[in-house]
Amino acid sequence: MTLARLVTEGRVRAGVDLSGLTTYRLGGPAAFLMDAATSDDLMAVAAVLAEETREVLVLGRGSNLVISEAGFEGLAIRLGPEFGGIELDAVPRVTVGGIVPLPQVARTATAAGRRGLEFLIGVPGSAGGGVRQNAGCFGTEMVDVLESAVVFDLLTGKSATVDAFALDMTYRHTSVTATDVVLSATFRAGEGDPVPGLELIREHTRWRRLYQPGGTLNAGSVFKNPPGDSAGRIIDSLGLKGLRIGGAEVSGKHANFFVAMPGAEPSHVYLLVKKVVAIVESETGIQLEPEIQFVGHFENPEKR
Ligand code: EPU
Repeated sequence: MTLARLVTEGRVRAGVDLSGLTTYRLGGPAAFLMDAATSDDLMAVAAVLAEETREVLVLGRGSNLVISEAGFEGLAIRLGPEFGGIELDAVPRVTVGGIVPLPQVARTATAAGRRGLEFLIGVPGSAGGGVRQNAGCFGTEMVDVLESAVVFDLLTGKSATVDAFALDMTYRHTSVTATDVVLSATFRAGEGDPVPGLELIREHTRWRRLYQPGGTLNAGSVFKNPPGDSAGRIIDSLGLKGLRIGGAEVSGKHANFFVAMPGAEPSHVYLLVKKVVAIVESETGIQLEPEIQFVGHFENPEKR
Protein backbone atom coordinates (compact mmCIF):
# COMPACT_ATOMS: atom_id res chain seq x y z
CA MET A 1 0.00 0.00 0.00
CA THR A 2 1.18 3.53 -0.73
CA LEU A 3 0.17 6.81 0.83
CA ALA A 4 -0.55 8.17 -2.66
CA ARG A 5 -3.14 5.43 -3.09
CA LEU A 6 -4.83 6.30 0.21
CA VAL A 7 -4.98 9.92 -0.98
CA THR A 8 -6.53 8.84 -4.29
CA GLU A 9 -9.06 6.71 -2.43
CA GLY A 10 -9.95 9.74 -0.29
CA ARG A 11 -8.92 8.04 2.96
CA VAL A 12 -6.05 10.48 3.51
CA ARG A 13 -6.12 14.21 2.82
CA ALA A 14 -3.05 16.21 1.78
CA GLY A 15 -2.06 19.62 3.20
CA VAL A 16 -4.45 19.90 6.14
CA ASP A 17 -4.14 22.76 8.62
CA LEU A 18 -3.46 21.37 12.09
CA SER A 19 -3.61 24.57 14.14
CA GLY A 20 -7.30 24.14 14.92
CA LEU A 21 -6.57 20.66 16.26
CA THR A 22 -4.34 21.96 19.06
CA THR A 23 -5.29 23.86 22.21
CA TYR A 24 -2.65 26.49 21.34
CA ARG A 25 -4.43 27.02 17.98
CA LEU A 26 -0.95 27.38 16.46
CA GLY A 27 1.07 25.74 13.73
CA GLY A 28 1.11 24.87 10.06
CA PRO A 29 -0.34 22.02 8.03
CA ALA A 30 0.25 18.30 8.07
CA ALA A 31 1.51 17.04 4.72
CA PHE A 32 -1.10 14.28 5.17
CA LEU A 33 -3.95 13.65 7.58
CA MET A 34 -5.98 10.51 8.08
CA ASP A 35 -9.23 10.60 10.01
CA ALA A 36 -9.31 6.97 11.08
CA ALA A 37 -12.88 5.74 11.25
CA THR A 38 -12.12 2.08 11.85
CA SER A 39 -9.19 -0.16 12.65
CA ASP A 40 -9.16 -0.98 8.92
CA ASP A 41 -7.93 2.57 8.35
CA LEU A 42 -5.14 2.00 10.86
CA MET A 43 -4.30 -1.29 9.13
CA ALA A 44 -4.00 0.65 5.86
CA VAL A 45 -1.53 3.04 7.55
CA ALA A 46 0.42 0.04 8.81
CA ALA A 47 0.50 -1.33 5.26
CA VAL A 48 1.89 2.01 4.03
CA LEU A 49 4.56 2.07 6.73
CA ALA A 50 5.61 -1.43 5.71
CA GLU A 51 6.48 -0.05 2.27
CA GLU A 52 7.35 3.61 2.75
CA THR A 53 9.33 5.50 5.38
CA ARG A 54 6.91 8.05 6.80
CA GLU A 55 6.89 9.92 10.04
CA VAL A 56 3.57 9.63 11.87
CA LEU A 57 1.95 11.84 14.45
CA VAL A 58 -0.95 10.42 16.44
CA LEU A 59 -3.14 13.35 17.40
CA GLY A 60 -5.18 13.18 20.54
CA ARG A 61 -6.98 16.38 21.48
CA GLY A 62 -3.86 18.46 20.84
CA SER A 63 -3.63 19.63 24.45
CA ASN A 64 0.09 18.99 24.75
CA LEU A 65 1.30 19.93 21.28
CA VAL A 66 3.19 22.75 19.61
CA ILE A 67 3.32 22.32 15.83
CA SER A 68 5.89 24.41 13.95
CA GLU A 69 4.96 27.19 11.52
CA ALA A 70 6.09 25.00 8.60
CA GLY A 71 3.90 22.21 9.88
CA PHE A 72 4.49 18.47 9.98
CA GLU A 73 5.97 16.66 6.97
CA GLY A 74 4.58 13.23 7.73
CA LEU A 75 1.19 11.59 8.20
CA ALA A 76 -0.94 12.84 11.07
CA ILE A 77 -3.61 10.45 12.33
CA ARG A 78 -6.72 11.38 14.19
CA LEU A 79 -9.19 8.90 15.64
CA GLY A 80 -12.77 9.51 14.59
CA PRO A 81 -15.92 9.42 16.73
CA GLU A 82 -16.03 5.65 16.27
CA PHE A 83 -13.27 5.54 18.86
CA GLY A 84 -15.38 7.51 21.32
CA GLY A 85 -17.84 6.09 23.82
CA ILE A 86 -17.85 5.42 27.52
CA GLU A 87 -18.96 1.95 28.62
CA LEU A 88 -19.86 1.25 32.22
CA ASP A 89 -18.82 -2.39 32.28
CA ALA A 90 -19.20 -4.84 35.15
CA VAL A 91 -18.04 -3.13 38.36
CA PRO A 92 -15.36 -1.88 38.69
CA ARG A 93 -14.54 -1.52 35.00
CA VAL A 94 -15.17 1.54 32.86
CA THR A 95 -13.95 1.33 29.26
CA VAL A 96 -13.54 4.45 27.16
CA GLY A 97 -12.53 5.04 23.54
CA GLY A 98 -9.12 6.56 22.83
CA ILE A 99 -10.47 9.90 21.59
CA VAL A 100 -12.84 10.55 24.53
CA PRO A 101 -11.93 13.72 26.47
CA LEU A 102 -10.88 12.76 30.00
CA PRO A 103 -13.01 15.44 31.70
CA GLN A 104 -16.02 13.78 30.04
CA VAL A 105 -14.95 10.46 31.55
CA ALA A 106 -14.81 12.13 34.97
CA ARG A 107 -18.31 13.60 34.65
CA THR A 108 -20.01 10.58 33.09
CA ALA A 109 -18.51 7.92 35.34
CA THR A 110 -19.05 9.95 38.52
CA ALA A 111 -22.65 10.86 37.68
CA ALA A 112 -23.32 7.15 37.03
CA GLY A 113 -22.11 6.25 40.52
CA ARG A 114 -18.59 5.15 39.67
CA ARG A 115 -15.91 6.66 41.89
CA GLY A 116 -12.21 7.33 41.61
CA LEU A 117 -12.04 9.06 38.22
CA GLU A 118 -12.99 12.54 39.49
CA PHE A 119 -9.41 13.81 39.07
CA LEU A 120 -9.71 13.40 35.30
CA ILE A 121 -11.72 16.64 35.28
CA GLY A 122 -8.34 18.39 35.43
CA VAL A 123 -6.73 16.56 32.52
CA PRO A 124 -7.89 18.19 29.29
CA GLY A 125 -6.52 15.62 26.82
CA SER A 126 -7.94 12.45 25.29
CA ALA A 127 -7.98 9.08 27.02
CA GLY A 128 -5.38 7.81 24.54
CA GLY A 129 -3.05 10.76 25.03
CA GLY A 130 -3.55 10.59 28.79
CA VAL A 131 -2.57 6.92 28.85
CA ARG A 132 0.46 7.52 26.63
CA GLN A 133 1.70 10.28 28.91
CA ASN A 134 0.55 8.82 32.21
CA ALA A 135 -1.22 12.13 32.72
CA GLY A 136 -2.25 13.17 36.18
CA CYS A 137 -3.76 15.84 38.36
CA PHE A 138 -4.50 16.44 42.06
CA GLY A 139 -2.02 13.79 43.14
CA THR A 140 -3.48 10.95 41.06
CA GLU A 141 -2.12 9.61 37.78
CA MET A 142 -3.43 7.29 35.07
CA VAL A 143 -1.30 4.49 36.51
CA ASP A 144 -3.40 4.61 39.69
CA VAL A 145 -6.67 3.85 37.89
CA LEU A 146 -5.76 2.18 34.60
CA GLU A 147 -6.36 -1.55 34.33
CA SER A 148 -5.46 -2.09 30.67
CA ALA A 149 -5.40 -0.44 27.26
CA VAL A 150 -5.94 -1.67 23.73
CA VAL A 151 -2.94 -0.54 21.75
CA PHE A 152 -2.63 -0.70 17.95
CA ASP A 153 0.95 -0.91 16.73
CA LEU A 154 1.29 0.91 13.40
CA LEU A 155 4.57 -0.88 12.73
CA THR A 156 3.10 -4.38 12.91
CA GLY A 157 -0.55 -3.68 12.10
CA LYS A 158 -1.63 -5.60 15.21
CA SER A 159 -3.57 -4.55 18.26
CA ALA A 160 -3.20 -6.02 21.72
CA THR A 161 -4.76 -5.59 25.13
CA VAL A 162 -1.92 -4.55 27.40
CA ASP A 163 -2.11 -4.63 31.19
CA ALA A 164 -1.24 -1.30 32.78
CA PHE A 165 1.67 -2.82 34.69
CA ALA A 166 3.27 -3.76 31.35
CA LEU A 167 3.24 -0.13 30.19
CA ASP A 168 6.17 0.97 32.38
CA MET A 169 4.15 3.89 33.75
CA THR A 170 6.17 6.34 35.77
CA TYR A 171 5.75 10.10 36.24
CA ARG A 172 4.60 11.48 32.84
CA HIS A 173 6.15 8.48 31.08
CA THR A 174 5.04 5.15 29.58
CA SER A 175 6.36 2.63 27.06
CA VAL A 176 3.63 3.64 24.57
CA THR A 177 5.55 4.89 21.51
CA ALA A 178 4.89 7.45 18.78
CA THR A 179 3.78 4.63 16.45
CA ASP A 180 1.31 3.17 18.94
CA VAL A 181 -2.34 4.20 18.88
CA VAL A 182 -4.31 3.75 22.10
CA LEU A 183 -7.72 2.60 20.86
CA SER A 184 -9.35 2.29 24.27
CA ALA A 185 -8.59 2.31 27.97
CA THR A 186 -10.19 0.34 30.78
CA PHE A 187 -10.20 2.03 34.17
CA ARG A 188 -11.03 0.71 37.63
CA ALA A 189 -13.83 2.71 39.23
CA GLY A 190 -15.88 1.06 41.97
CA GLU A 191 -19.47 1.86 42.84
CA GLY A 192 -20.16 4.81 45.10
CA ASP A 193 -22.41 7.75 45.88
CA PRO A 194 -22.33 10.21 42.98
CA VAL A 195 -23.17 13.23 45.17
CA PRO A 196 -19.77 13.62 46.93
CA GLY A 197 -18.06 12.64 43.66
CA LEU A 198 -19.76 15.47 41.77
CA GLU A 199 -18.94 17.85 44.63
CA LEU A 200 -15.28 16.82 44.37
CA ILE A 201 -15.38 17.57 40.63
CA ARG A 202 -16.78 21.04 41.40
CA GLU A 203 -14.01 21.57 43.97
CA HIS A 204 -11.32 20.53 41.47
CA THR A 205 -12.83 22.90 38.89
CA ARG A 206 -12.86 25.79 41.39
CA TRP A 207 -9.21 25.07 42.27
CA ARG A 208 -8.17 25.08 38.64
CA ARG A 209 -10.01 28.34 38.00
CA LEU A 210 -8.10 29.91 40.90
CA TYR A 211 -4.63 28.58 40.13
CA GLN A 212 -4.45 27.84 36.41
CA PRO A 213 -4.99 30.20 33.46
CA GLY A 214 -8.19 28.65 32.10
CA GLY A 215 -9.80 30.46 29.18
CA THR A 216 -6.43 31.22 27.61
CA LEU A 217 -4.66 29.41 24.79
CA ASN A 218 -2.19 27.07 26.51
CA ALA A 219 -1.10 23.44 26.61
CA GLY A 220 -1.17 22.78 30.34
CA SER A 221 2.09 22.34 32.19
CA VAL A 222 5.02 23.17 29.94
CA PHE A 223 7.64 21.30 31.98
CA LYS A 224 7.61 18.11 34.01
CA ASN A 225 8.17 18.73 37.67
CA PRO A 226 11.72 17.94 38.74
CA PRO A 227 11.90 15.33 41.53
CA GLY A 228 10.63 16.78 44.80
CA ASP A 229 9.90 20.24 43.41
CA SER A 230 7.53 22.09 41.13
CA ALA A 231 8.58 23.67 37.83
CA GLY A 232 5.99 26.43 38.35
CA ARG A 233 7.34 27.29 41.79
CA ILE A 234 10.93 27.44 40.49
CA ILE A 235 10.10 29.61 37.47
CA ASP A 236 7.98 31.90 39.65
CA SER A 237 10.71 32.20 42.30
CA LEU A 238 13.05 33.57 39.61
CA GLY A 239 10.58 36.35 38.82
CA LEU A 240 9.80 35.04 35.34
CA LYS A 241 6.00 35.43 35.36
CA GLY A 242 5.11 37.75 32.48
CA LEU A 243 8.34 37.03 30.58
CA ARG A 244 7.45 37.28 26.92
CA ILE A 245 8.88 36.39 23.53
CA GLY A 246 6.71 37.64 20.67
CA GLY A 247 3.20 36.52 21.55
CA ALA A 248 4.19 33.77 24.00
CA GLU A 249 4.09 34.66 27.68
CA VAL A 250 4.81 32.95 31.00
CA SER A 251 1.39 33.07 32.66
CA GLY A 252 1.03 35.47 35.57
CA LYS A 253 -1.32 32.97 37.20
CA HIS A 254 0.86 29.85 37.03
CA ALA A 255 4.46 30.03 35.86
CA ASN A 256 4.48 26.52 34.34
CA PHE A 257 1.80 27.56 31.84
CA PHE A 258 2.89 29.53 28.77
CA VAL A 259 0.03 31.39 27.16
CA ALA A 260 -0.31 32.19 23.43
CA MET A 261 -1.39 35.84 23.17
CA PRO A 262 -2.62 37.45 19.93
CA GLY A 263 0.19 37.33 17.36
CA ALA A 264 1.82 34.28 18.93
CA GLU A 265 3.69 31.90 16.68
CA PRO A 266 4.90 28.39 17.48
CA SER A 267 8.53 29.59 17.41
CA HIS A 268 7.70 32.12 20.15
CA VAL A 269 6.63 29.29 22.43
CA TYR A 270 9.73 27.32 21.48
CA LEU A 271 12.09 30.21 22.15
CA LEU A 272 10.38 31.02 25.45
CA VAL A 273 10.84 27.42 26.55
CA LYS A 274 14.54 27.55 25.58
CA LYS A 275 14.98 30.83 27.44
CA VAL A 276 13.30 29.65 30.63
CA VAL A 277 15.31 26.40 30.57
CA ALA A 278 18.53 28.42 30.23
CA ILE A 279 17.67 30.88 33.03
CA VAL A 280 16.54 28.12 35.42
CA GLU A 281 19.68 26.12 34.73
CA SER A 282 22.06 29.02 35.21
CA GLU A 283 20.29 30.25 38.37
CA THR A 284 19.54 26.92 40.06
CA GLY A 285 21.45 24.18 38.22
CA ILE A 286 18.12 22.39 37.63
CA GLN A 287 17.48 21.16 34.08
CA LEU A 288 13.79 21.46 33.28
CA GLU A 289 12.44 18.93 30.83
CA PRO A 290 9.49 19.95 28.61
CA GLU A 291 6.30 17.98 29.01
CA ILE A 292 4.75 19.53 25.90
CA GLN A 293 5.69 18.02 22.56
CA PHE A 294 7.24 20.11 19.77
CA VAL A 295 6.46 18.77 16.30
CA GLY A 296 8.17 19.82 13.06
CA HIS A 297 11.19 22.01 12.53
CA PHE A 298 12.07 24.68 15.07
CA GLU A 299 14.86 27.15 14.55
CA ASN A 300 17.78 26.86 16.90
CA PRO A 301 17.74 30.12 18.90
CA GLU A 302 21.55 30.17 19.08
CA LYS A 303 21.59 30.84 15.33
CA ARG A 304 19.34 33.89 15.50
N1 EPU B 1 3.61 27.57 42.56
C1 EPU B 1 4.15 28.82 42.66
N2 EPU B 1 4.07 29.67 41.61
C2 EPU B 1 3.47 29.33 40.43
C3 EPU B 1 2.92 28.05 40.32
C4 EPU B 1 2.99 27.17 41.40
O1 EPU B 1 4.74 29.16 43.69
O2 EPU B 1 3.43 30.15 39.51
C5 EPU B 1 3.67 26.67 43.71
C6 EPU B 1 2.28 26.41 44.29
O3 EPU B 1 1.95 27.39 45.23
C7 EPU B 1 2.44 25.03 44.92
C8 EPU B 1 3.48 24.35 44.03
O4 EPU B 1 4.13 25.38 43.29
O5 EPU B 1 2.98 25.14 46.20
C9 EPU B 1 2.84 23.32 43.08
O6 EPU B 1 1.92 23.99 42.21
P1 EPU B 1 0.56 23.30 41.72
O7 EPU B 1 -0.20 22.80 42.90
O8 EPU B 1 -0.10 24.24 40.79
O9 EPU B 1 1.01 21.99 40.94
P2 EPU B 1 2.07 21.79 39.80
O10 EPU B 1 3.11 20.86 40.34
O11 EPU B 1 2.54 23.06 39.21
C10 EPU B 1 0.89 19.66 38.82
C11 EPU B 1 0.67 19.13 37.43
C12 EPU B 1 -0.55 19.76 36.80
C13 EPU B 1 -1.77 19.56 37.68
C14 EPU B 1 -1.47 20.15 39.05
C15 EPU B 1 -2.61 19.96 40.02
C16 EPU B 1 2.89 18.65 36.51
C17 EPU B 1 3.97 19.11 35.59
N3 EPU B 1 1.82 19.45 36.60
O12 EPU B 1 1.19 21.05 38.69
O13 EPU B 1 -0.77 19.07 35.57
O14 EPU B 1 -2.89 20.20 37.10
O15 EPU B 1 -0.29 19.50 39.59
O16 EPU B 1 -2.65 18.67 40.46
O17 EPU B 1 3.01 17.58 37.09
C18 EPU B 1 -0.32 19.17 33.23
O18 EPU B 1 0.39 18.18 33.40
O19 EPU B 1 -0.49 19.67 32.09
C19 EPU B 1 -0.94 19.78 34.39
C20 EPU B 1 -1.59 20.92 34.30
